[in-house]
Amino acid sequence: MNMLKQTYRLSNGTELPKIGFGTWQIKPGDETYHAVSAALKNGYRHIDTAEAYRNEESVGQAIKDSGIPRDDIFLTTKLESHIKTYDEALEAFEKSLDALKTDYVDLFLIHAPWPWNEIGKDCKVGNREAWKAMEKIYEEGRAKAIGVSNFKPDDLEDLIRHTTIVPHVNQIAYFIGLDQKETIDYCLAKDIFIEAYSPLGIGYLLGNETIKDMAKRYGVSPAQICIRYDLEKGTAPLPKSVHEHRMIENAQVDFKIKDEDMRILDAIKGDPRKWG
Ligand code: A2P
Repeated sequence: MNMLKQTYRLSNGTELPKIGFGTWQIKPGDETYHAVSAALKNGYRHIDTAEAYRNEESVGQAIKDSGIPRDDIFLTTKLESHIKTYDEALEAFEKSLDALKTDYVDLFLIHAPWPWNEIGKDCKVGNREAWKAMEKIYEEGRAKAIGVSNFKPDDLEDLIRHTTIVPHVNQIAYFIGLDQKETIDYCLAKDIFIEAYSPLGIGYLLGNETIKDMAKRYGVSPAQICIRYDLEKGTAPLPKSVHEHRMIENAQVDFKIKDEDMRILDAIKGDPRKWG
């Protein structure tokens, strides 16, 4: 079965392809243009970008030049993390649409609960303001779904208490070793769908011996074990690669990881990004 055609359904009924193509850390310009073009050519129909990646222009151009109808593609972008006012959020969204050369996105996310240069700062009031802009955009039909990224239960709780629409999505770093249990449990209870960025732990998981051994047993690659793991957990992984053969490999994950093997993977603890 072609995994790129499989979809999940969000709480508002919007469907999204189970595997997305992540564009974080792909350089604006040719690199992004070629990567997204190759991803689309190989069947990816879910593309994840952000204002902060500075590559929206190239993503938009690749989508346009692909000739694929816009509504066959699930496109996500994100509001920059320092924008925490209503007006600025609306303005930033217009800029994103312009850059992406489209008149709507499928998913619009608040990139983080705090500016990236002030991680942990309490921006709850600002998040409520930005969220009200997201709600307006959603009500206008210019984002088919809205959500957040990198939010923990505390920030989500505040948002839900003070605004109208419960986020449809929380996109978080989620991969073997980083179980994010509290956030996942909270989101499950509120019907907030989890998207998993960096499913390969930005590549660091691929050298893990347990994962390598398991991959051999299954006759797949370590990357495929990592991506399949996120799917077994009911999340949508967003693997990034600038290499076409890897994009293809990352989508060939139509196999099942046995429960006892999932337990072995669950037992791997720690953030692989820090293993170096
Ligand atoms: P590259 O873009 O050069 O292919 P993550 O999605 O967790 O952020 O991981 C992305 C990193 O993993 C990138 O460095 C990417 O490198 C690498 N990568 C992606 N897919 C594969 C794969 N199938 N095999 C090996 N490395 C991969």
